[in-house]
Amino acid sequence: MKENKFYSGDLAEIIITEEQIKKRIKELAEEISACYEPGEELVMICILRGAVMFMADLSREINLPVIFDFMDVSSYGTGTSSSGTVRIIKDLQENIEGRHVLIVEDILDTGKTLKHVIAMLETRRPASIKVVTLLDKPERRVVKHIVADFNGFEIPDKFVVGYGLDYAEKYRNLPFIAVLKEELYS
Ligand code: PRP
Repeated sequence: MKENKFYSGDLAEIIITEEQIKKRIKELAEEISACYEPGEELVMICILRGAVMFMADLSREINLPVIFDFMDVSSYGTGTSSSGTVRIIKDLQENIEGRHVLIVEDILDTGKTLKHVIAMLETRRPASIKVVTLLDKPERRVVKHIVADFNGFEIPDKFVVGYGLDYAEKYRNLPFIAVLKEELYS
């Protein structure tokens, strides 16, 4: 474990190490690459800001031509539970009509964010839409039909930070996934 003197006292436990993330990303990239025709172009859509690390590492392992685009949606503000309101802050720059789209998420929780994002992207008539998420908290799902096509790790209903995930914008630069001490947000 790499110590981070600013954050280490805030963490209850590390639940996914840097090595486990690296290994799982390689496996996911293989699965994803095998799902498309060789040489087929993939538009990877990073949902800001939490999925930045995952997008950067996953894309480098994918054996297909990849285009990057970014969409910023917000449902949480600075709290720890979903407000149910999904705001589009930044839209795509690419025209996705007729193209293969892979939505890249850091965490799938209630499913409200993905429900909105998928519905919006479907109206733009892409050739396909698939979803990859690094983390999945199935216990928290409200929108039951939302499932990721590719899922890194299933995790319990605990508040996690690191590897892109924040609490009040902090902890994103931790290289692993950790549970935040409850006293910090309760
Ligand atoms: C988080 C996460 C997902 C969403 C998942 O984003 O990155 O986009 O919440 O939750 P849901 O399944 O309950 O909708 P957040 O709004 O915290 O923004 P961030 O990625 O910038 O931290």
